[in-house]
Amino acid sequence: MTLDELIERQESERERQRKLKRRILCCTAAGCMSCGAESVRKAVAAEIQAEGKEAEMEVCGTGCMGLCSRGPLVRTSDDGALYGNVDAEDAAALVSEAPAAYARLGVKRIDTSAPFFTKQKKIVLAHSGEVDPERLNDYIAAGGYQALGRALAEMTPEEVIAEIRKSGLRGRGGAGYPTALKWELVAKQSATPKYVVCNADEGDPGAFMDRSILEGDPHLVLEGMAIAGYAVGAQQGYIYVRGEYALAIQRLQAAIRQAERERLLGSRVFDESFQFRIDLRIGAGAFVCGEETALIASIEGRRGQPRQRPPYPPESGLWGQPTLINNVETFANVAPILLNGGEWFASIGSGASKGTKVFALAGKIANTGLIEVPMGIPLREIIFDIGGGVPGGGGFKAAQTGGPSGGCIPAEYLDTPVDYESLAAIGSIMGSGGLIVMDQASSMVDVARFFMEFCMDESCGKCIPCRAGTVQMHDILTRILQGEGAPDDIEMLERLCVVLRETSLCGLGQTAPNPVLSTLKYFRHEYEQLVQPKPAAAGGES
Ligand SMILES: Cc1cc2nc3c(=O)[nH]c(=O)nc-3n(C[C@H](O)[C@H](O)[C@H](O)COP(=O)(O)O)c2cc1C
Ligand code: SF4
Ligand code: FES
Repeated sequence: MTLDELIERQESERERQRKLKRRILCCTAAGCMSCGAESVRKAVAAEIQAEGKEAEMEVCGTGCMGLCSRGPLVRTSDDGALYGNVDAEDAAALVSEAPAAYARLGVKRIDTSAPFFTKQKKIVLAHSGEVDPERLNDYIAAGGYQALGRALAEMTPEEVIAEIRKSGLRGRGGAGYPTALKWELVAKQSATPKYVVCNADEGDPGAFMDRSILEGDPHLVLEGMAIAGYAVGAQQGYIYVRGEYALAIQRLQAAIRQAERERLLGSRVFDESFQFRIDLRIGAGAFVCGEETALIASIEGRRGQPRQRPPYPPESGLWGQPTLINNVETFANVAPILLNGGEWFASIGSGASKGTKVFALAGKIANTGLIEVPMGIPLREIIFDIGGGVPGGGGFKAAQTGGPSGGCIPAEYLDTPVDYESLAAIGSIMGSGGLIVMDQASSMVDVARFFMEFCMDESCGKCIPCRAGTVQMHDILTRILQGEGAPDDIEMLERLCVVLRETSLCGLGQTAPNPVLSTLKYFRHEYEQLVQPKPAAAGGES
């Protein structure tokens, strides 16, 4: 396909959609699928057929619409209405044009003027819930692949990197490394072949941002990777995706096939000399395989264990060749940046944290689900306005960001802007976007123990501080929780935190102490209460 043909395709698909009276968009991401979305979609399709309305209505599956706690979610295109807790019995009403039929749906209608919707800003998730991830034409209608086409036709690789630099985009996989700097490092290597790798390992407990992006808009990630390939001089990309993400894998495989068929990937992309293939590599679900050197080892067919850096992957990555590794969400930002310009992206966000961030809201929060917010938004607005606050009258106690490498943020810091530097300053991190809310009933020592257990189980065992230290810390935390701790245990925990942080080989061990350190910093009294010497039982032995 040429760029002109792509634009023609966009127009004809838009025209086709405009002619329809109604598109009935059913969320068919994993969350809604697990509560019956497929039966809703089938029932609506059968109803359209039974009513003979195939020429004027269609039903489409989409990615996550965000408010997963109310799933299955369905949107009707003609009036923009959004319905929650939809079931197959609602199919007739969804297809009907009689106002009376809508009455059944009225109670299920979700108020889209609520802060959950109005306080979000969508770049990465702009198409999620709008396009059918299984139809390339839907993505093309939404402007898909134009950023790649324009980059190939109108920009040099250096100009692409300059645009990314202007945007201020930083890696969304956790560390926030400047994306343009990494691309430049790979681009300037003379060795070939070079590789582009998308890290879709997503192992943090409670996190589902990357899975949702892949399930909802797989072409957006493919397009971002292809642009990266052009910018750094790579012809081959890999997506390392965890095996549990069956739906994401299925949609990625279909998307790659579709894109190759239309010459949007593969050889002679857009009839230009550029070629770029993307293949999937399925991980077996080890958290440590998200660490870039372990991920490389795993793709190469070796045991997924980290190695000493340097050399860093841009110099020596897959099979010793220059390799660009970025997170799913990082790649998903690339096409919007090229389409709208780096300055546009940099105008969103705050300080050195540009653009938006996707978060998965979980734990004691009313609106569990998937959100995208401008960087710099106060944590309070995420939890209380967008998230709807803490249900059950338990009251807010803390928010955990950054997963096992992150920290717990207490109520006094609720007005902290959510950006890389501000979160680090209060002992947490942005991380990849997991956000778990705890209420007053939660034991913060137990939270610390939970994350330590996770790190202990996921430690690859290559270096002693992490292999033995996580076990020791977990033992101490368990002892404290069982009421068998001693005051010295707190000091021992603190000493182990330093050992792990300073001497572990990779980020897993180096950051494993963070949940302990932050709960000790803000909730030390909970530890102290548990290790108080117990008063001697009255009437003891005489
Ligand atoms: C233990 C561990 C697990 C990680 N897991 C992931 C992951 O699941 N996804 C991810 O993108 N980055 C993960 N990272 C970070 C990656 O090593 C790497 O920095 C990242 O993929 C770079 O992409 P970015 O610059 O776009 O953020 C992990 C790091 C460590 C230490
Ligand atoms: S820090 Fe932990 S996970 Fe990382 S190499 Fe050492 S043992 Fe393995
Ligand atoms: S999975 Fe359907 S709204 Fe999130």
